[in-house]
Amino acid sequence: MTDLWSARFASGVQQMRSSAVRDLLKLTEQPDVISFGGGLPAPESFPIEELAAAAELALLENPAAALQYGLTEGYRPLREFLSLRMATLGIRVPVEQVMVTHGSQQGLDIAGRLLIDPGAPVAVEDPSYLGALGAWRSLQPSWVTLRLDRDGLDVDHLEQVLASGLRPRFLYVVSCFQNPTGVTLSPERRVRLLEIAARYGLVILEDDPYGELYFEGSRATPLAALDVQMHGELRHVIYLSTFSKQLAPGLRVGWMAAPPAYIARATILKQGLDLHSNSFAQRVAYLTCRDGLLDRHIPIIREVYRARRDVMLAALATEMPAGVNWTKPAGGMFCWLTLPDGLNATELLKRCLEQKVAFVPGAAFYADGGGEHTARLNFSFSSPDKIRAGVARMGAAFRGA
Ligand SMILES: Cc1ncc(COP(=O)(O)O)c(C=O)c1O
Repeated sequence: MTDLWSARFASGVQQMRSSAVRDLLKLTEQPDVISFGGGLPAPESFPIEELAAAAELALLENPAAALQYGLTEGYRPLREFLSLRMATLGIRVPVEQVMVTHGSQQGLDIAGRLLIDPGAPVAVEDPSYLGALGAWRSLQPSWVTLRLDRDGLDVDHLEQVLASGLRPRFLYVVSCFQNPTGVTLSPERRVRLLEIAARYGLVILEDDPYGELYFEGSRATPLAALDVQMHGELRHVIYLSTFSKQLAPGLRVGWMAAPPAYIARATILKQGLDLHSNSFAQRVAYLTCRDGLLDRHIPIIREVYRARRDVMLAALATEMPAGVNWTKPAGGMFCWLTLPDGLNATELLKRCLEQKVAFVPGAAFYADGGGEHTARLNFSFSSPDKIRAGVARMGAAFRGA
């Protein structure tokens, strides 16, 4: 019998592969495994009562609208709320430049579809967010991978690349508490990045799901805010953020702010993707937040995550053998491990799974390969006791390697 499917998929899709690591991580669903693998918020931090009240209100107040088709750009009161909230960060954009998306993941998908042609250069941090690389891989970009250090993207490297004549369609940056490394772009580099963008006509896709989750100091100024400051309008930056880490990811409500020309195209594209974002979830998000819940609730999340980060860092210091290094993130949900030369994180994961603990090997976050000696650890999801126990199990597995 001829195979109906193998030659049928689009060329970009044919290159998609199921990953061995994903298969390994399926084992983490067993209840006795402590998983630092997923990028999950703490369920204890979901504002359940407030969401339940908002859901009821949404259905009582205007059920016909809450359950009806809506505008592609999003529910207007929510967009107005987001426009005001972003303005407090310095991202001053009119409501017409704000679009609600199904999570920021949809903002990434839209950016890829609008800006990537097969073979077109796309600049990413090395390592970068796996979900963005995955969203764009079938579009067959040519990756331009840029160095990253403890101060975030190496802007000198970016400038060298641009000075050599290469013109990426856009630069993708997770500007705060990056997924996967936990590092944050320094204030000096933020300013330089905007100067470079102005000089070379660079478009920056700023993905900022974690910016509010700082444990020390104050919130970093988004690149989008610096763009508005420099030009009097959003010119170079497409800004993405989300309620996933501030309320709950299952709502699937995120948003973008972007220059008018981009929003116009994104609206036409989104019509074809899903008509509009979930009307009910948008109202629930709006009704939950309109009376200032975020300013009361986000500090609670920060405290929970800060405590978990501290427990993880202390446990790593006690349990990890010499030669293993890790980042000390000042916020967000992830810590990044670098293993001594010769140790392979996927092999270590197999050993760790025998000890009933899991993490994500870092290689998957490198667009063009490499990073076999790195690993991502999530500290937001597990309780402090589980974090202690899990890192102790990892230590035992590492020492046996
Ligand atoms: C950097 C980054 N961007 C986007 C997303 C997707 O978030 P959302 O739930 O808003 O789609 C995530 C989720 O973990 C992320 O880490």
